[in-house]
This record gives sequence, C-alpha cells and structure tokens, in this order.
Amino acid sequence: MTGRHSDAPLDFDALIRRVTAETFVRSVEVHEEIGSTNSRGLELAALPGGKYPQLIMAQRQTAGRGRGANRWWSSAGALTFSLVLPVDLARLPQSRWPELSLTVGTSVCRALQRLAVTEDVRLKWPNDVYLNGKKICGILVEVPSAATGRLVVGVGLNVNNSIRDAPEELQTAATSLCDAVDGSREMIDVLIAVLQSLEYHVNVLCDDADAMRRMWRELDFLMGRSVVVGDEHETISGTCEGIDDDGALLLRTLAGPRRVFGGTVQTFT
Ligand code: BTN
Repeated sequence: MTGRHSDAPLDFDALIRRVTAETFVRSVEVHEEIGSTNSRGLELAALPGGKYPQLIMAQRQTAGRGRGANRWWSSAGALTFSLVLPVDLARLPQSRWPELSLTVGTSVCRALQRLAVTEDVRLKWPNDVYLNGKKICGILVEVPSAATGRLVVGVGLNVNNSIRDAPEELQTAATSLCDAVDGSREMIDVLIAVLQSLEYHVNVLCDDADAMRRMWRELDFLMGRSVVVGDEHETISGTCEGIDDDGALLLRTLAGPRRVFGGTVQTFT
C-alpha cells in the first residue's frame, strides 16, 4: 500500500490489467499527459460502439476543468480520471441525475475509509470530499450534449501530490492523502478502491435511494454550518439543515427555508 514515490511513473500495463480484472470498467485509456480527461470522456461518450464503463486516466492534465469556469490544479501524484458511465434510464431517470455527484462523493469517502484512512472524511455538498476540514477531492459530472444515455464522471483526488507544491491560494484550503496521513499510497490500489466503491454506490442509488440518502446525511460536512451559497444569479446566506431527497441543500435563512440546487459554498463555522 505504501512506498511508491510521489512522481514515480505509473505501470500502465499493470493498471489496465488490474482495473479490467477487479472492477466493472470494460475499457481503459491511459495518458501521460492530456488536456482534460473529462473533455476526452465527452468525446468518447459521443462515439458509437464503445465498451462501457470506459476509464480515461491521466498522469498529468494541462487543462483540468472544475465546476463552472474553474480550473482544476493537479500535479504528479494526483489521481486524475474520468469514467464514461452508461446509465439505465429505467433505473435512474434523467430527473435524478443531479443525485449522482453526491453519490460519487460518497463513493470516494467510503473508498478512503476502506483504505484505512482514519481521519475525518466528509462529503461537502454538492461535489467535494473533505479530509480534516480541507478539500481533498473534486468531482465533475457532465452530460454530453447529445442524448447518449451516458455520463462523464470526473474525479480529481489528491493522493501522493503534496499541497505544499500547490499555488499559494490552495495551500490553506486543500489537502492530500500524503499530507494528512504518513507515507505515500499505491495509486492503482486507490484507483481500484474508488472504482469498486463507485459501482457499488451507483447501484445503491438506483435500487435503494433511501439507503443512499442516509449515507449522504451521515457524511454531510455542511450540516449545522453557516454558509454563503452563490452563483451568477444570487447569493444566499443561511445555516445548513441537511440535504434533501433530491440532492438539494436545505438552508435556514432569515427569510425562511430555502432549497438550493447548485452554487459555490463558503463556510463560516
Ligand atoms: C471541482 O472541484 O470543481 C471539480 C474538479 C474536478 C476535477 C477532475 S480531474 C479529472 C476530471 N477531468 C477534468 O478536467 N476535471 C475532472
């Protein structure tokens, strides 16, 4: 589990062999460098005849994307991948797709716990994972413009990349496994744990939505915190009162209860 130096090259053949043998992924593309694995995933999702789920993994991204207009910083040693995921609309109609970001976040939290990370792992609505109060993982779920019944799930997880090398503005807000827990991790083990957890939790979302909702609520980082949630249209201040069944954030504001469906969250307590 430990011992790989943070910028040691990945063994691509071992990765492809283990991922296809040990997870639900049916085809794999590994890149030393790519613009964005999500952009590549959107291209692949539009092509006919692919074997899904399809994994696009990169050692480095030159144009990693975050939510909205945000960029995603990552360096050697980060786990950076996207998954082209076929969705059975009978089990998960499009109206429920917003619940997927929280489900992917839950999968990452549970995978970290399974990898014996005993630190405080939390899901921060709508699509981040926090470790000891700092962001360790960002998730970007995108729907291709053509209706293909496929989604692209992007995950950036700081594993063996120390945040000490990150731009200054990230240093107080972000963390990585190697900063929070002693020693580096075997990247392929982390990837496989996340993929297995993803398969399991997407099935739970489809087959037992109440069980999935209980998991979000157990992991909810924002519960009881004072926040400001903003997007290009409005900014709302309030206290978080949990996550609703459809994935909306529940806020108590001076003007009464509000349900919020997206935006950037700033926390104060
Ligand atoms: C966010 O925090 O706003 C989401 C960040 C998502 C980053 C991942 S890294 C792999 C995948 N490819 C991208 O370009 N973005 C996602």
